[in-house]
Amino acid sequence: MPQRASVRVRRAGPADLPALLALEHHAFASDRMSPRQFRYHLRHPRNRLLVAEAEGLLLGAALLMLRRGARSARLYSIAVAESARGRGIGRRLLSRCEQEARAAGAERMVLEVRSDNEAALALYRKMGYQPFAHRRHYYEDGADAIRLRKALPRRAARAGQKSAAEMRR
Ligand SMILES: CC(C)(COP(=O)(O)OP(=O)(O)OC[C@H]1O[C@@H](n2cnc3c(N)ncnc32)[C@H](O)[C@@H]1OP(=O)(O)O)[C@@H](O)C(=O)NCCC(=O)NCCS
Repeated sequence: MPQRASVRVRRAGPADLPALLALEHHAFASDRMSPRQFRYHLRHPRNRLLVAEAEGLLLGAALLMLRRGARSARLYSIAVAESARGRGIGRRLLSRCEQEARAAGAERMVLEVRSDNEAALALYRKMGYQPFAHRRHYYEDGADAIRLRKALPRRAARAGQKSAAEMRR
């Protein structure tokens, strides 16, 4: 397994499709994205399909949806290959999605997670997400979803930078 330092996160391209489908197949038992859906998201001008890779291996992926002018960005999916879990890759993908959402002007991130998905719930909790709604029978197999959200304040991007108005004073 590649070392942590060699993992990089980048935008996905069409050549990643076979590995994305394999990851989707192994990571999710239901509600999987089809090849057609992946192609749609790869082409979509506002959605961000990100992958974590090391030494040519695709180790994880995340799909962020950004609607024009919307204050909320939506994390639609995140998955890490089983053999690469527990090494901070999920956290890195999520942080990168938050950065991209902020850069696009979103003020908060929202997402849904299965109420029985302890690993994902732990990741989101650790990253500061709070539950705000419950959706019964949300998934294909009837499982409930918990909706989580997190504010994305702008300060991280602007810390240390004075505004133009402050500089003129
Ligand atoms: C959820 C998932 C993406 C986490 O990815 P990961 O790379 O293993 O997570 P990380 O190593 O970045 O973990 C970050 C934090 O999340 C929490 N966490 C992650 N996996 C955990 C687990 N199995 N049990 C408890 N906490 C866990 C921990 O707090 C961890 O921080 P720590 O290492 O400092 O303790 C991964 O388990 C996965 O792909 N699951 C299958 C697909 C899935 O369910 N996706 C979510 C759909 S909403």
